[in-house]
Amino acid sequence: MRLLGIIGGSGLTQYPGLEITEQKHVETPYGDPSSAIKMGTLNGKQVAFLPRHGDRHNIPPHRINYRANIHALKTIGVTDILAVAAVGGITDKFAPGVLAVPDQIIDYTHGREQSFFSEQFRADNHIDFTWPYDRELREILLKAAADAGLTALDGATYAAVQGPRLETAAEIRRLERDGCDLVGMTGMPEACLAREAELSYATLAVVANWAAGITNNVLTMDEIQQTLAGGIDDVKTIIANVMKQLSG
Ligand code: HPA
Repeated sequence: MRLLGIIGGSGLTQYPGLEITEQKHVETPYGDPSSAIKMGTLNGKQVAFLPRHGDRHNIPPHRINYRANIHALKTIGVTDILAVAAVGGITDKFAPGVLAVPDQIIDYTHGREQSFFSEQFRADNHIDFTWPYDRELREILLKAAADAGLTALDGATYAAVQGPRLETAAEIRRLERDGCDLVGMTGMPEACLAREAELSYATLAVVANWAAGITNNVLTMDEIQQTLAGGIDDVKTIIANVMKQLSG
């Protein structure tokens, strides 16, 4: 049986409408996950929800215990992870308010624990990461959006940056030259840890703002939060449709 785990990011610290039936406090060899895992039902099926930044949104991107989060979800039987992520838009198509299902990642983060194999490494622990997101789960997400009459752009390169500060204009120009469309702070090492744990993983990205220097506007958190709040209903509609498609 498949069990969907939803990792909520900025704008989705709580999951409005999710009736929580149980809070699972999971201990892991890597320490504590960001919060208890909230079990609930959506569309009549069980889901596990984990707010990546903690219940009070007080864990910054570089301090998230990504290993504990993925390990905890795996431990309770999650098979598929849908990561919801707020991002900045770099290239033309990715304007604020747009939803996207990225297909590639470039990792610019540093100093984060990024492997379950650090302590006990074997030669066969080099996982294939050519396509960092699960193809089937991406297709489920895209169909879920289309079924609801919503547009989610298919394919984008996600730049994972360190944060918690936003970028300089020059950094964004470099990301653009590198071929990145979106920039966010939490996509890595979450995605590669999910792959190491043999969980299917895909991201639904919500563009919250134009990345630094793309327009002349100064970025404000107010504006970013407003855009995210506007996108959350669509995100929930898409997730409800994902539940319909997941068998088991
Ligand atoms: N940069 C990095 N992460 C983000 C941004 C951004 O502009 N917007 C939302 N998350």
